[in-house]
Amino acid sequence: MSFVPMSDLVGKAFRRGYAVPAFCAWNAEVMEVILATAEKLRAPVILMSGPGEFPVLPPASMAAVAYAIKARYDTPAALHLDHGDSMEMVDQCIAARYTSVMLDFSARPFEENVEALRQVVGKARPKGITVEGEIGRIGKADEAAVEGGSASAYTDPGQAADYVRRTGVDLLAVSVGNKHGFYKGQPHLEFELLSELHAAVPVPLVMHGGTGIPEKDIRRSLELGIAKVNVASELVHGFRESLMTQWRDGRNLWTPIALAEAAGTLPAVVEKWLRVTGAAGKA
Ligand code: 13P
Repeated sequence: MSFVPMSDLVGKAFRRGYAVPAFCAWNAEVMEVILATAEKLRAPVILMSGPGEFPVLPPASMAAVAYAIKARYDTPAALHLDHGDSMEMVDQCIAARYTSVMLDFSARPFEENVEALRQVVGKARPKGITVEGEIGRIGKADEAAVEGGSASAYTDPGQAADYVRRTGVDLLAVSVGNKHGFYKGQPHLEFELLSELHAAVPVPLVMHGGTGIPEKDIRRSLELGIAKVNVASELVHGFRESLMTQWRDGRNLWTPIALAEAAGTLPAVVEKWLRVTGAAGKA
């Protein structure tokens, strides 16, 4: 089965009160693990890549690999551009058959963000491709994270309503205390603000910075409009730690075997998030 538009998966989750996790998938073995785990748990899932992953493979090759692997799995999945940083990148991903695109102009002036996302919707919608926008700014909690700038700013509900109405985006990424990377201490999510945002806009909301958010906070946010949760650092961290341990132990491993061992850290992370978001069993 091929990839489906992301709004098919997230729209259903939004109506039924769970979320679909989106995992950064930077190469073939990561895609394989995510899809195999989702299939095992009968869960919808989103594979995402963007400026943090395209140094490994450009969009056209990334999509070719993803489509080839997806053909072997039945579980419903979407292929998403995460934090696209230019209109050219969006165009490349649309041409490569991504089924969802995000252009992140949250650090630009509001009117520029509105105009750019309005254009993305104009290109994507006729092709059945989902569009995610962001206002407010979701910063970084640590230095290893590639997404997000150093500063964070909460999403304003009035501006969010205006943005969604004028751009026509299908999903809105919100900043309510969530950040990319590992939090120092406990994250503090502003549930009152999330509730106001949910009341202000009709579309599903996206929680970036899933890594480190406690299960109880994720569950509470599912009641307040969050229908997609992004997870990257937790996957990258486990993979990196495994490679560093293998290196430190002085094991003279054949590279593919070292990579396979590192990929062995991924299924537990994917499984945890498929369960915490309530996606398990919904395919
Ligand atoms: P984490 O790295 O904190 O999991 O965030 C991922 C993310 O939001 C990607 O857009």
